[in-house]
Formats: sequence, C-alpha cells, structure tokens
Amino acid sequence: MTGFIADRLVLFGATGDLSKRMLLPSLAALDADGLLDPHLEIIGTARGEMDDGAFRSFARESLEQFLPADRRGGMATFLNRLSYQALDATTIEGFDALARKVGKPEHGTAIFLSTAPSLFEPTIQGLKASGLAGGNVRIGLEKPLGTDLASSKVINDAVATAFPEHRIFRIDHYLGKETVQNLLALRFANILFEPLWNAQHIAHVQITVAETVGLESRVAYYDDSGALRDMVQNHMLQLLALTAMEVPVSYDSTNVRDEKVKVLRALRKVHAADTVTGQYRAGAVGGAAVPGYDDELGKPSNTETFVAIKAHIDNWRWKGVPFYLRTGKRLPRRTTEIIIQFRDVPHSIFSGRIARLQPNRLVIGIQPAENITMSVMAKVPGLDRGGIGLRPVPLDIAMPEAFSGPQRRIAYERLLLDLIEGNQTLFVRRDEVEAQWEWIDAIRAGWEEHAQECKTYTAGSWGPSAAIALAERDGVTWHE
Ligand code: BG6
Repeated sequence: MTGFIADRLVLFGATGDLSKRMLLPSLAALDADGLLDPHLEIIGTARGEMDDGAFRSFARESLEQFLPADRRGGMATFLNRLSYQALDATTIEGFDALARKVGKPEHGTAIFLSTAPSLFEPTIQGLKASGLAGGNVRIGLEKPLGTDLASSKVINDAVATAFPEHRIFRIDHYLGKETVQNLLALRFANILFEPLWNAQHIAHVQITVAETVGLESRVAYYDDSGALRDMVQNHMLQLLALTAMEVPVSYDSTNVRDEKVKVLRALRKVHAADTVTGQYRAGAVGGAAVPGYDDELGKPSNTETFVAIKAHIDNWRWKGVPFYLRTGKRLPRRTTEIIIQFRDVPHSIFSGRIARLQPNRLVIGIQPAENITMSVMAKVPGLDRGGIGLRPVPLDIAMPEAFSGPQRRIAYERLLLDLIEGNQTLFVRRDEVEAQWEWIDAIRAGWEEHAQECKTYTAGSWGPSAAIALAERDGVTWHE
C-alpha cells in the first residue's frame, strides 16, 4: 500500500449502468461492513442536472435493485455520504464547480473514471486545470481504454500528463474476483503444483469465458468492439498471465505485474488460421427463445460475438504448450474456467481391462461455481481377475463449502477499496495493457488481411463447429 487513504471519492459516470449495478452497491456493502472511513464523502458526477437529493434517490433505487436485502444494513448512513455535481466534461467551468464540491480533503481524493473514450482527454485537462490532479489524487480508469494500441497510447499519454503511474489504477474487474486471486494462492502457496506447472508435464491449457447474455443494452459499443476486444484483450489475457507467470518475488504490485507482463510479451503472434470467429443466430438459451445478433442489431454486421484462439507463449516454461482460449455471448451456460491438462504418465504398468490411463486434469472454476477439481486415476473396487480396473475420479474442493463463513464480495468492492487505500496489485500497469493490445492488434490485422468472415452459431450452442475443429485437429476436446 502506498500513500494516503482517500477521504473523497469522485465517481464519474455516476448515473450510468456500471455505477447503478456495481459501484454504488459495492460501496454500500463496504459501508455496511464498516470498511469505509467514517469521513469518506462520495461525490457523483455526470452530465445530467440533479441535486444531491435526487442523486440519493437514484442511489437508493439502485441499491434496492442490485444489493441483496441482507447487505443493505446502514443504507441511510451510506446515502448521507453522497452528493452530486453535474458536469459537462468539455468545459473547464464544470470542473471548477466539481473542485468546489470536493472541497479540501484531509488526506486525499480517489477518482473513478468510467466515461466515453471521447471524453477522456477533456476530462484529464479539466481535472488538471481545476487542481483535481495534485499529489493527493489518484485515478481509477475503467475500460474501454482505447480500441487498439495506438488509441490506448493516446489515452495513457493524456493521463500521464496529469498523473504518474503510481497514482493510476487501470481496472480489470476480473482481477477483483476472489477466485482469480485464488489462482495465485493455488499456484504459489502449495508445493504440489509448481514442480509440474510447465511444458514437461502439461499438455495444454484451456481458458473458457462463456456467457449466456446477448447484446444487452450496449448495441453501439459492442458492435464496434467485438468479443476479441471486449473480453480477450483484458480479462482473458489477465487470466492467461496469472496462469502462466513465473513465481513473483513477493505478492506486491511491482513484482506481480513484472511477472505478468513478461508472459504477455512472450505471446506468439497468432496466425488467422489459429482463430475462429462466430456470431450467434436465433436460438434458445436456458429454455427461452432469443433473437440473433443481427436481429438485435437491426442490420448485418461482421462483429464477432464468439472467438476461439490457439495461443502459444514463447518461453522456456511453456515451449510447445498450446493455450486454447474461447469466449462468447449466448452460449449454453455462464461459466469461466481454466483447465490444466497434464500429460500421460511416461509408462503404464497396467494392462488388461483398461486400455489407456487418463491423464490428470485440473479444472479451476472461476464462476459461477467456485470449484477446483483434480481428476486422478483410481482403482475400481473388485477382485480384478481379468486385470486391474481403473477409472478417473474427481478430487473436489468446493470453495463455498470450504469457506462458508467469509462474505462473498462483488469484484468492485475489493477494487474500490484498493483504489481508496492505494493498493495497485490488482490493477493493470501501462506496459501490460500495451503488450495486450499489441497481440490483439496483430490478430485483427490478420483477420483483415485474410478477410475473415464470422461463422454463425445457434444461440445456446458452444459456438461455430470450426471452434471444435480448432482444438480437435490437435486431438484436444474442449471441456464442457
Ligand atoms: C465486461 C464486458 O468487461 O465483462 C461484458 O464488457 C461482459 O461484455 C462482462 O459481459 C463479463 O463480466 P462478468 O464479471 O459477468 O464475467
């Protein structure tokens, strides 16, 4: 942890969807648990005119809708922390009024910026001009931070004119998820896995982030973005980096991020033939009929709502180990998981009833199930007169059962608290973001060069059949 604990929190985009669903509920939940400093004041800002009372009513409605009833204790105290300042980010005067509203914090200010990309630069200018970018201010940046390496550099350069890197907190909300952090505990707090965590013992890795939702209300954003930029560039590459990185010197922001960025830089350029893009058509998800992407959009489009990639990390540890990544909307169920497929034993001493031993497989369930399952071979009980019988059985750790006491928290609770307190470990550093974009841009350039067309898939299926073929031509089956 560095520096001050902020006693002002300024939420840009305070009346937006993220604020309503995630930020306000997370802050209220932290408050209910006594985790917010009693002096912390929260100032919401957005373009629309409203007074403090109206913003509090907006917040109350959000909490009633998105915060479980058993976490709403102390809602009145929380609402009392809130005030509001309308702001047109394109004019400096607006920022002066905001600065007056923020007043003189005793320790410092944390800003959470989730704003349209076109408003980034004027917002940073406004913050600078109105004195809201001094040494006692840190800034959290929500995606999308650009649409490619060049535009992300423009944003990062603009922010850097006002804030040094140690006061910039780039958010990837997957890093706030308990189970994502648990990946590091699993790998580095146990002796069991690390000696086997390499090309010698691991045949391949799969990372799946499957969603059942479609476009929701984000038509314009999503059609310009697509699954590669919306999910792979950030969340999936962070999962990959945490899975593949070397042991950091210690669990702190510099050491963890130093190791992650090395993985991102070692990602091999992907050939278009090692990717599959898809777009859903009308189908059924969870028993309900849903329209196709083009119907929802109201026009034809080549934006991918599904992408599968076969990736490689060119370093000593992972030489020759494919990492299969896939993500998509309108898939059959919501699941995020990482599969570590171990290799066969070098020689089987068993013969007879079983033809082939099944190699061990570790399944790390990130969401919704927080399960870690290791499949191991075991003897089937019996006299084995025709040869020993073996079968894979799961060794299961269900995290909610193992830890039934501690409260499960929304990812943003952790991240907002870290922003307020100044802990950067779970935030993405500039060099990571740029390495991510570099790899993603090359994939998109390959698609353009080969005029890659999206394949279609029926909503409620696991994506285009070409995605299955992508793995199967290596003898690999996606874990389902
Ligand atoms: C966001 C993407 O970053 O992550 C969304 O923009 C996606 O398209 C969301 O739905 C998924 O987050 P989670 O936490 O629900 O897995």
